[in-house]
Amino acid sequence: MTPADRPAHPARPAARSGPDVLDLPPLLGAAGQVRLPGSKSISNRLLLLAALAEGPTELHGLLDSDDTRVMVQALRALGVAVDGEAGSAGLPLRVQGCGGRLGRPGAELFLGNAGTAVRPLTAALALLGGDYVVRGVPRMHQRPIGDLVDALRAIGCAIDYLGEAGFPPLAIRQGRPRVEQPLRVRGDVSSQFLSALLLSLPLLAQPRDIEVQVEGPLISRPYVALTLALLERFGVRVEHADWQRFVIPAGSRLRSPGSLRVEGDASSASYFLAAGVLGALHGQGGPVRVLGVDAHSVQGDVQFARVLHGLGADIRWGDGWIEACGLQAGRSRLGGGEIDALAIPDAAMTLAVTALFADSPTLLRGIASWRVKETDRIHAMHTELRKLGARVEAGEDWLRVWPLAPADWRSASIATYDDHRMAMCFSLASFGPADIRIEDPGCVAKTYPGYFQDFAAIARPVPVLAIDGPSACGKGTLAARLAAELGLRLLDSGVLYRAAALQALRRGVALDDEPGLRALALELPIGWRDGRLLLDGEDVGDELRSERVGEAASRIAVLPGLRQALLALQRAQRRAPGLVADGRDMGTVVFPDARLKVFLTAAPATRAERRYKQLISQGISTTLENVLRDLRERDARDASRSVAALAAAPDSLPLDNAQLDVDATVARVLQWWRDKP
Ligand code: DC
Repeated sequence: MTPADRPAHPARPAARSGPDVLDLPPLLGAAGQVRLPGSKSISNRLLLLAALAEGPTELHGLLDSDDTRVMVQALRALGVAVDGEAGSAGLPLRVQGCGGRLGRPGAELFLGNAGTAVRPLTAALALLGGDYVVRGVPRMHQRPIGDLVDALRAIGCAIDYLGEAGFPPLAIRQGRPRVEQPLRVRGDVSSQFLSALLLSLPLLAQPRDIEVQVEGPLISRPYVALTLALLERFGVRVEHADWQRFVIPAGSRLRSPGSLRVEGDASSASYFLAAGVLGALHGQGGPVRVLGVDAHSVQGDVQFARVLHGLGADIRWGDGWIEACGLQAGRSRLGGGEIDALAIPDAAMTLAVTALFADSPTLLRGIASWRVKETDRIHAMHTELRKLGARVEAGEDWLRVWPLAPADWRSASIATYDDHRMAMCFSLASFGPADIRIEDPGCVAKTYPGYFQDFAAIARPVPVLAIDGPSACGKGTLAARLAAELGLRLLDSGVLYRAAALQALRRGVALDDEPGLRALALELPIGWRDGRLLLDGEDVGDELRSERVGEAASRIAVLPGLRQALLALQRAQRRAPGLVADGRDMGTVVFPDARLKVFLTAAPATRAERRYKQLISQGISTTLENVLRDLRERDARDASRSVAALAAAPDSLPLDNAQLDVDATVARVLQWWRDKP
């Protein structure tokens, strides 16, 4: 095939759509069970083996993700019949093996950022010969492949670099591969080079043994063990001595075993198991059970569960599952120390985040391969952990993370570098006392499109009881009583609007100067002492309650920019063990995921009477008519503004307290709270 014959636009996976960012609520704990999606490493190896083998193969439980889709598309482009779609309602995918003879000896393949597709397909196509181009996303063109190309060229394969030497894109032509001497391949950059050779060399069906010699140390051995285990299912038994010398016996051929089931992804299990442990810090540790992996798993990353156990986690194993049940008896935090992560490179990223919650610093060693993964993971991890306030040190192949004291946590927007594992492991930071925003959450589609839904299903967010309602309906009194009864924190959100108004009055910022008010609110110097608000360190409680400030607060509260600026301050009050928040938009805007939302009302006349009595008892002279008029005006303004207008959330429970005294109102809401699942 000449370049002119090649398709101008090789098949690309559909562009991802979805939100740009995901705000994770702070978590108290996690409990439940998760059926893991199929393992990426197993799925892509089995797809290739099934395609190359003799006979048809049914693959059950295959992962449906970006990386497996590019593999399926590539196989189809090569003329392999693949029937069905991965992940489709329990139906298997059927692959018609080509028995080592591809239907189309020429194609241009776009393989995204899937290392598990680029490396083994390069080896297979080079050994089979033809006229192929292998390319991927820009990051793939920065991920090394030179060691594999060198090994293949040395046995007579014809491969050219189309860009920088040592990296994709590649052009593969017809060569004359023959293995007379032992093949040599380096094993210290990526074990995928060795795996790629082992998966495809049986295609040569040589009458003599094929020997592959690893030069230098071999990293990520469990992934090579996985390759060997899967080859065995296809009838090829590779012998090895000390993970250095591998022998494919003479006459080996890939033969389909007929039907195979893909295990759950052990790397993805790490997030849920860690969640089942971290919740214990707030007293709600698990159990979280992952279904689809167990002690017999062929994936190296199941060892993560043992490492976590070694750090003090209570981990249990069963047939087809692993469970995390918080910490071992007598422990209040995870341990730190030095961890050799050579055998669990992917799951070790999870440990870099759990290290924030440990009792001493954690040193992850043996992670040189992080440098050449979806992104430079050592750099990415170092940068993002520091955003949270953590002390972190990094070297060429190690990372040291210090625990983060509760007072030192900072809310942060976490960049994910188009790396699914960055997005997934930082979801665990939501166990800390900070607000966590995950940028480009859709990048998890590489291996786990439903990750954040599954995470939300086991997550137990810090609970919020939201009370909204008009002026003088008794929200403040009710909220304070509920917080005291339930032992939760209290947020009177109106106080923040009043504080912003007072600051504007003091600084001479006009009450309709939206940009000026927004800037002022973003820098509002507030603090708390014994539940009272401090402005610039001064207790301004009485001034905040004045009519002048209340009137100013009501005016600035109509400005969207100002409201937006106060959001973070309000959400920052959502910390363990939970929050009772009162205001106008607690259930609709600030805490839309509140566990219970109450919309408190009473007829204007009732509210006016209460407010009138209150003012008189404070020695403020007024008339009932004046109070009623003011109240109606404020109601109208609250209900008619363009943002966060006073309205009941659709999932709120209405409560008219005109006929109820305070005790009865409190009792009613407490009952609702306790009845909530
Ligand atoms: O509840 P309060 O009177 O302390 O509130 C002062 C002003 O702030 C009031 O006019 C409405 C406004 N506010 C708001 O718009 N949204 C909130 N969540 C709380 C108060």
